[in-house]
Amino acid sequence: SAAEKGGYDYFMLKEIAEQPKAVADTLLGRIDAAGSLTLDEVRIPDSVLREVDKVVIVACGTAYHAGLIAKYAIEHWTRIPCETELASEFRYRDPILDQRTLVVAISQSGETMDTLMALRHAREQGAKVLAICNTNGSTIPRESDAVLYTHAGPEVAVASTKAFLTQLVACYLVALYLGQVRGTKWGDEVRGVVRELSVIGAQVEEVLATMEPVRELARSLADKNTVLFLGRHVGYPVALEGALKLKELAYMHAEGFAAGELKHGPIALIEKDVPVVVVVPSPRGRSVLHDKIVSNIQEIRARGARTIVIAERGDEAVRPYADHLVEVPATPVLLQPLVATVPLQVFACELATARGNEVDQPRNLAKSVTVE
Ligand code: G6P
Repeated sequence: SAAEKGGYDYFMLKEIAEQPKAVADTLLGRIDAAGSLTLDEVRIPDSVLREVDKVVIVACGTAYHAGLIAKYAIEHWTRIPCETELASEFRYRDPILDQRTLVVAISQSGETMDTLMALRHAREQGAKVLAICNTNGSTIPRESDAVLYTHAGPEVAVASTKAFLTQLVACYLVALYLGQVRGTKWGDEVRGVVRELSVIGAQVEEVLATMEPVRELARSLADKNTVLFLGRHVGYPVALEGALKLKELAYMHAEGFAAGELKHGPIALIEKDVPVVVVVPSPRGRSVLHDKIVSNIQEIRARGARTIVIAERGDEAVRPYADHLVEVPATPVLLQPLVATVPLQVFACELATARGNEVDQPRNLAKSVTVE
């Protein structure tokens, strides 16, 4: 009913709008006044976490994209090797797991069969399993050693939005907590990130307030067949997520690529007027990556692409090459996905509407896939 949708036409629109609160709720009570993390619900003793020598993240769909981003954060802040794998691939390749492996299973519903089977396999091999989940008492957290709940509230639309942002927050918390427990890299940078996390909800709100041009752009692309997405570093999984949203909702051919791979294939797809969404890393910090992506944008634009550029506010270097510029607030490098994903959700939702598709219930898809 309209009341359930809180005055929005679709649950997806409501859930996109709820993201600032979902993010804030997921942080609530987990960071103390001194900027230290307290994850009491993670019932794996710190002594065990200190011994972890490998982290393996398993998930499906959008949750897998959160896991890909988590890998960057975990390795950077903890120096523990981390791999992220599709749950459906994981247990069929005889993965190497033991008591010192921490497996993180990410699932909104807590019922995805592939993710459940992956964690069962991991526990059989003696690994500890931490679930990141949005559904209280669901199967995946029940069968895990510990759980960190995302507090997104119920997500009804099949295409995941607010759950994704809160999965990211939970992954950052896990990464920072591991860093804190192990004392590695727990310096000014990490404390700064914890501080920045507390303002990220407001930054997501800022993004949401500037989405009208993105909706307009989406409507203008309703008759296109293909949209490509490019990203680098944590922007690469954001590109994958943007493409997934477009497939799910607009039924368009959409593909995400690592920008550095452009010359190894994807550039052959560029022809006149192909829309290409590029997620640009901050010009601050890792500016090498920024400069490389700017030259990618020049390369594709010279071949006729219509460039839709998501960049940090004030990034003047990209402006001359952006047919459409979407500015997002400055965040620490690793946190950028929290703001950069939001325009891609809005874009996909509006394109689906413009194409007359059912936004909340896309064809052939289910909210939770409980078969293998
Ligand atoms: C389905 C949903 C996706 C979701 C995926 C994983 O494919 O349509 O939106 O990302 O399952 O679901 P989970 O509940 O495990 O996060």
